[in-house]
Amino acid sequence: MASIIEKRRCLHRQLINQKQENEDLRCELKGLQGPANMGIASYMIAHEINNLLTPLSSYAELALRNPDDKALIEKALRKTKRNSRRASEIMESMLSIANGQKQEKVICKLRGLVDDVFKCLCRDFTKDGIKVKIEMSDDLEIYAVPVQIQQVFMNLILNARDSMLSLGGTLSIRAYEKSTCVQIEIQDTGAGIEAEMIGKIFEPFFTTKSGTETAGKQRGYGFGLAFCSRIIEEHNASISVDSEPGKGTTFRIRVNKSK
Ligand SMILES: Nc1ncnc2c1ncn2[C@@H]1O[C@H](COP(=O)(O)OP(=O)(O)OP(=O)(O)O)[C@@H](O)[C@H]1O
Ligand SMILES: [Mg+2]
Repeated sequence: MASIIEKRRCLHRQLINQKQENEDLRCELKGLQGPANMGIASYMIAHEINNLLTPLSSYAELALRNPDDKALIEKALRKTKRNSRRASEIMESMLSIANGQKQEKVICKLRGLVDDVFKCLCRDFTKDGIKVKIEMSDDLEIYAVPVQIQQVFMNLILNARDSMLSLGGTLSIRAYEKSTCVQIEIQDTGAGIEAEMIGKIFEPFFTTKSGTETAGKQRGYGFGLAFCSRIIEEHNASISVDSEPGKGTTFRIRVNKSK
């Protein structure tokens, strides 16, 4: 009998110690969450600002090579102004995600958001042999944080462009209402993705673009789709992909159309 009571006491002490250890670990984890979020946010900011700066540096180079072309110089300056403003909006938006603050979602017209992304890309797709088709009603609205969802579109469009750079093709962006959501499809007729890779593409730092730009090969950081997943999660939205090697890829996003 005495030994049973002693065993119970011992178990009770172990339980108390375990509870204290759990509490200590929880506090430690909470302390680490802040720096971890800041690390992710810094990476997200750097990645998205790089997306905006890359086309600007080509424009600046073009303008410098044509000092008498006033129209070109003005265009380059306007693009610099637009993309710099966008860069500071991105910074603000990503830091607020890291701080655990929810950014205000608004009802916004989808077509305007998509057109604006193409302006920020500063690139004539037809020069790469890529035809762009946009099919959506001008009135279609989504409930989103504009700057965040636009960076999702930008990453998907850049990936689609990369996949068609060698042979050209068609980039189609379609959107339509589907019950309480809007479904947005970004489709390319590019290289496609091998079945065994599909499960990996949303992982941070997974990339098949390991060349160096100086060698004329595509260079990727493998962060574009990881970024998209994070933003889609923030929107309680969803993203999926269908791809056929040699034929092309379609990304589908479903986002709420209202609160
Ligand atoms: N539309 C697409 N067509 C073919 N492959 C794609 C497409 N989109 C993504 N992928 C594959 O998924 C990988 C991961 O894409 P992700 O955007 O995350 O990184 P990345 O484009 O390689 O680099 P970056 O960080 O510059 O975006 C790509 O390297 C590519 O292999
Ligand atoms: Mg990418």
